[in-house]
Amino acid sequence: MPATLSAAPSGSFLLGDIPVTRLGFGAMRITGPGIWGEPKDVAEAKRVLKRVPELGIDLIDTADSYGPFVSEDLIAEVLAPYKGLVIATKGALTRHGPNIWRVVGRPEYLRQCVLMSLRRLKVERIDLWQLHRIDPQVPRAEQFGVIAEMQKEGLIRHVGLSEVNIEEIQAAEKFFPVVSVQNQYNLVDRKSEDVLDYCTNKAIGFIPWAPLASGRLAAPGSVLAKIAAERGATPGQVALAWLLKRSPVMLPIPGTGSVAHLEENVAGAALTLSDAEFAALDKEGKEAG
Ligand SMILES: NC(=O)c1ccc[n+]([C@@H]2O[C@H](COP(=O)([O-])OP(=O)(O)OC[C@H]3O[C@@H](n4cnc5c(N)ncnc54)[C@H](OP(=O)(O)O)[C@@H]3O)[C@@H](O)[C@H]2O)c1
Repeated sequence: MPATLSAAPSGSFLLGDIPVTRLGFGAMRITGPGIWGEPKDVAEAKRVLKRVPELGIDLIDTADSYGPFVSEDLIAEVLAPYKGLVIATKGALTRHGPNIWRVVGRPEYLRQCVLMSLRRLKVERIDLWQLHRIDPQVPRAEQFGVIAEMQKEGLIRHVGLSEVNIEEIQAAEKFFPVVSVQNQYNLVDRKSEDVLDYCTNKAIGFIPWAPLASGRLAAPGSVLAKIAAERGATPGQVALAWLLKRSPVMLPIPGTGSVAHLEENVAGAALTLSDAEFAALDKEGKEAG
């Protein structure tokens, strides 16, 4: 581990008009099993949140549905008021139990999502509010329309989308500037390659969720093990270094409920892969995916 552990070597990115350090933190794992209820170790979850800004991370990704509410509540309890921190939250998913997620995109519900996140996070404006999913049962114009209204009213500073294709991004861009897209993406899950290229060309932040393939890439024996051993790094660190090299708009948000894992992930920000290492991983990842 480097002497001064910091996310800064990951570089910075301009999210709308807000500069952020590219390696962020995903706050979905500070909840209970199935992303439902309180985490098993609440004290450790609070220590994780306290350590996040100390490590130079200034982008925290959460959602009202994580817990539900547990993640936003803990963030506010430990970190509000957020000096220099961007808390990116999301709405549109309702919860009916562990691992059960149901999309609701009716405009009156989306407005409630934003109003309640404002209260829970203890802010007057949400720096980045992301539509967690587009509801296929509600006209898109109604969903995008209410978001544009809330942005004009000053409730939301910037808008992001999640799990979208290029056509959906372009449809949303008719209503508001899209500053970020959050799709599942990692070395072995490359379904969103075209969306990532679109974001790279348009300087839209790309927030890959499950950057460690939900932990699988951080486990011993993953496709990354060989290069990790050669570089004296862990597989998870190599997975994050590969993402950071893949595109300058990449903003990985590895999630953890453990301070040790958080610190290990941050140390990955200092790992720079050679072009040859990047290409070898790229090939192996595509084959393993
Ligand atoms: N937009 C969406 O639809 C969507 C969906 C899913 C997630 N997300 C966001 O994306 C973030 C990241 O996704 P994710 O949490 O699902 O997946 P991830 O970051 O790929 O992996 C998280 C898992 O890996 C483990 N882990 C983390 N660091 C580790 C390390 N250094 N060594 C070993 N294991 C490690 C964690 O367990 P421990 O807690 O034990 O460390 C956790 O189980 C979430 O936190 C959330 O903010 C968004």
